[in-house]
Amino acid sequence: MENLSPLPFVLLIFLLLNVTASVAAPTAESVYTSFLRCLTNNTKSQDHVSDIVFAQTNSTFSSVLQAYIRNARFNTTSTPKPLLIVTPFEESDVQGAVICAKSIGIQLKIRSGGHDFEGISYVSDQPFIIIDMFQFRNITVDVQNEVAVVQAGATLGEVYYRIWEKSKVHGFPAGVCPTVGVGGHLSGGGYGNMLRKHGLSVDNIVDAKIVDVKGRILDKKGMGEDLFWAIRGGGGASFGVILSFTVKLVQVPKVVTVYRVVKSLDKNENTTEFVLQWQQVAPHTDDRLFMRLLLQPVSSKVVKGQKTIRATVIALFLGGADEVVTLMGKEFPTLGLNKENCTEMSWIDSVLWWANFDNTTKPDALLDRNVNSASFLKRKSDYVQKPISKEGLEGIWKKMVEVGKTGFVFNPYGGKMSEVSSDATPFPHRAGNLFKIQYSVNWEEPGIELENNFTRQARMLYSYMTPFVSRNPRSAFLNYRDLDIGTNSFGNNSYEEGAVYGVKYFNDNFDRLVKIKTAVDPENFFRNEQSIPTHTGLNTTGASKSGASELSHFSLYWKLMVKVGGLLLLELFI
Ligand SMILES: Cc1cc2nc3c(=O)[nH]c(=O)nc-3n(C[C@H](O)[C@H](O)[C@H](O)COP(=O)(O)OP(=O)(O)OC[C@H]3O[C@@H](n4cnc5c(N)ncnc54)[C@H](O)[C@@H]3O)c2cc1C
Ligand SMILES: *[C@@H]1O[C@H](CO)[C@@H](O)[C@H](O)[C@H]1NC(C)=O
Ligand SMILES: *[C@@H]1O[C@H](CO)[C@@H](O)[C@H](O)[C@H]1NC(C)=O
Ligand SMILES: *[C@@H]1O[C@H](CO)[C@@H](O)[C@H](O)[C@H]1NC(C)=O
Ligand SMILES: *[C@@H]1O[C@H](CO)[C@@H](O)[C@H](O)[C@H]1NC(C)=O
Ligand SMILES: *[C@@H]1O[C@H](CO)[C@@H](O)[C@H](O)[C@H]1NC(C)=O
Ligand SMILES: *[C@@H]1O[C@H](CO)[C@@H](O)[C@H](O)[C@H]1NC(C)=O
Ligand SMILES: *[C@@H]1O[C@H](CO)[C@@H](O)[C@H](O)[C@H]1NC(C)=O
Ligand SMILES: *[C@@H]1O[C@H](CO)[C@@H](O)[C@H](O)[C@H]1NC(C)=O
Ligand SMILES: *[C@@H]1O[C@H](CO)[C@@H](O)[C@H](O)[C@H]1NC(C)=O
Ligand SMILES: *[C@@H]1O[C@H](CO)[C@@H](O)[C@H](O)[C@H]1NC(C)=O
Repeated sequence: MENLSPLPFVLLIFLLLNVTASVAAPTAESVYTSFLRCLTNNTKSQDHVSDIVFAQTNSTFSSVLQAYIRNARFNTTSTPKPLLIVTPFEESDVQGAVICAKSIGIQLKIRSGGHDFEGISYVSDQPFIIIDMFQFRNITVDVQNEVAVVQAGATLGEVYYRIWEKSKVHGFPAGVCPTVGVGGHLSGGGYGNMLRKHGLSVDNIVDAKIVDVKGRILDKKGMGEDLFWAIRGGGGASFGVILSFTVKLVQVPKVVTVYRVVKSLDKNENTTEFVLQWQQVAPHTDDRLFMRLLLQPVSSKVVKGQKTIRATVIALFLGGADEVVTLMGKEFPTLGLNKENCTEMSWIDSVLWWANFDNTTKPDALLDRNVNSASFLKRKSDYVQKPISKEGLEGIWKKMVEVGKTGFVFNPYGGKMSEVSSDATPFPHRAGNLFKIQYSVNWEEPGIELENNFTRQARMLYSYMTPFVSRNPRSAFLNYRDLDIGTNSFGNNSYEEGAVYGVKYFNDNFDRLVKIKTAVDPENFFRNEQSIPTHTGLNTTGASKSGASELSHFSLYWKLMVKVGGLLLLELFI
């Protein structure tokens, strides 16, 4: 470092001065003014424009922003904030918002339910605005034809409730948490406890409505097979703003059965044997049965001051208790399932049970949008393709205790998941996968030190698991968003960069997604930290030539500031 030449330095400062001199950074106020003016000209209902655009200075800005933040990590004062939030009320508002964000040349983040684990629907390190779809929550259920039209900002709980209102023998296969949004969940794959019988949400989508980069509203016919394929698991945010999906309802029995069985390593309950047997049974058994396995490091009740591993099976059986007790007696003796351990109920009550409501809760609790506790979260994912051995599990138990708080959720595949081909949708993790692992750590206190501690824990466990999980690629689930596996960078977003995370999420389907992306959004307007890159790659301003320059210079200015700052610091220390 001692022979650091002053030349690049001078050059940088020259560049910096040059950029600073030629452009003033856009303020939130100027973006608000231009956006409002543009939107007034580009939506049908001009009179409500001032009611749906929230400036930073607006007294309700923070509460609108916070209403759909579901991870407290991205709810701090230092979290970058949007320059404005637009909350469309009708389709033409969405069209206008896309056209105007594009013409101003600002990054547009799209939010529906806000459950993204890395907050990328409402955070960015570049100047950005949010289009928040929470007012798009209409759900139209047609039992006769067994379909429903579901707007992007509806929650899964609302979807289940509206189906149940019309029919007690229909449901929809999607996630377990009722406040998750349709827009992100369905476009990201979307799985729940009926996946072994009915597949993913995306296996049950028959049409969609999207606003594309030109501000056009397209349905399946209008967008064509390719784009329709891409938004069923490839992540909507790389391609446009999804307005609604038309989904196929599935039939559910009048009576379903749930059970929860807990074993603990310190209690001599043959817990390791139990997990070994779970691996043999859960991915291969009757496809009406979904048995999630939770593995958590907990304080031992047997040896005070020590930690142990708790294994919990949580199950949904699409049938009666007698049948599943008989089945488990044959296939899974270490489960020790009796009829007393089972509860028979309606499908909608099983939705409430899975969401941990107590058994006096009525279905209208599913309409509550504010039930999530505001924990700090980190998630990661993996796929397991061959059973983990006894020795393997014993090593994992030791590591989990050593690492601290991070737990696992094993979600069994098989059944319908193995019948759908790996290129039928962008979601590629089909036959050959026994189960998906979610790495899960929650904590309750703010602070960067704690955050670093807990995210490091999750990464340590992830690293330890390498020999037990898929490789080449080491696969991951898009809806378990994890920025550790790669991100694109400003000014690049090349194919090579996108492939680092893209191949993990989409395996061999990545190239088709890139092709479609290049065709429908060649200038890469719809972009985020893990979006699908275009083939050409380097054009990331995302804006039309006319309006883009101001903001891209602004961002460049930031990068330079950071670089120069770093060099100055370096210089001070050498
Ligand atoms: C508590 C909790 C429980 C979960 N349980 C499950 C589960 O059981 N099964 C499962 O599969 N996943 C689950 N997830 C993950 C969840 O499915 C994903 O985070 C999903 O993307 C959330 O969708 P959203 O609309 O709520 O999120 P958002 O944060 O609003 O969006 C997520 C992503 O989708 C994009 N997006 C959102 N809306 C649109 C739109 N209208 N058009 C285009 N792009 C859009 C966003 O820009 C972002 O990239 C869970 C997450 C949490 C926090
Ligand atoms: C709005 O549109 C009208 C007619 O198309 C045009 O004359 C006017 O300049 C536009 N205003 C703005 C602010 O874009
Ligand atoms: C805040 O924004 C909303 C939506 O645009 C608007 O209706 C309201 O008048 C604004 N309030 C203030 C104090 O600016
Ligand atoms: C975000 O912070 C506000 C207070 O600043 C709090 O009221 C809200 O509950 C928090 N939400 C989440 C999800 O952390
Ligand atoms: C929802 O449905 C109502 C009643 O049909 C309609 O007035 C409203 O415009 C719809 N909202 C959206 C966002 O489509
Ligand atoms: C299952 O039921 C039996 C009684 O039939 C009981 O002894 C056992 O503890 C129950 N198991 C669980 C996990 O609840
Ligand atoms: C554990 O397994 C052993 C040997 O298979 C068996 O004898 C014992 O009863 C089991 N213990 C429990 C609690 O199931
Ligand atoms: C609800 O749960 C309580 C306590 O867990 C139990 O005593 C009661 O029998 C349950 N009621 C129903 C209707 O299942
Ligand atoms: C980090 O986590 C470990 C394990 O849970 C804990 O022992 C330690 O105190 C934590 N450190 C901080 C700074 O929180
Ligand atoms: C973009 O990223 C790729 C992959 O990391 C790298 O090879 C390439 O040099 C980068 N290009 C630019 C212009 O930064
Ligand atoms: C960037 O876009 C322009 C015009 O849209 C195109 O001419 C150029 O080839 C693109 N650059 C790259 C590296 O793809």
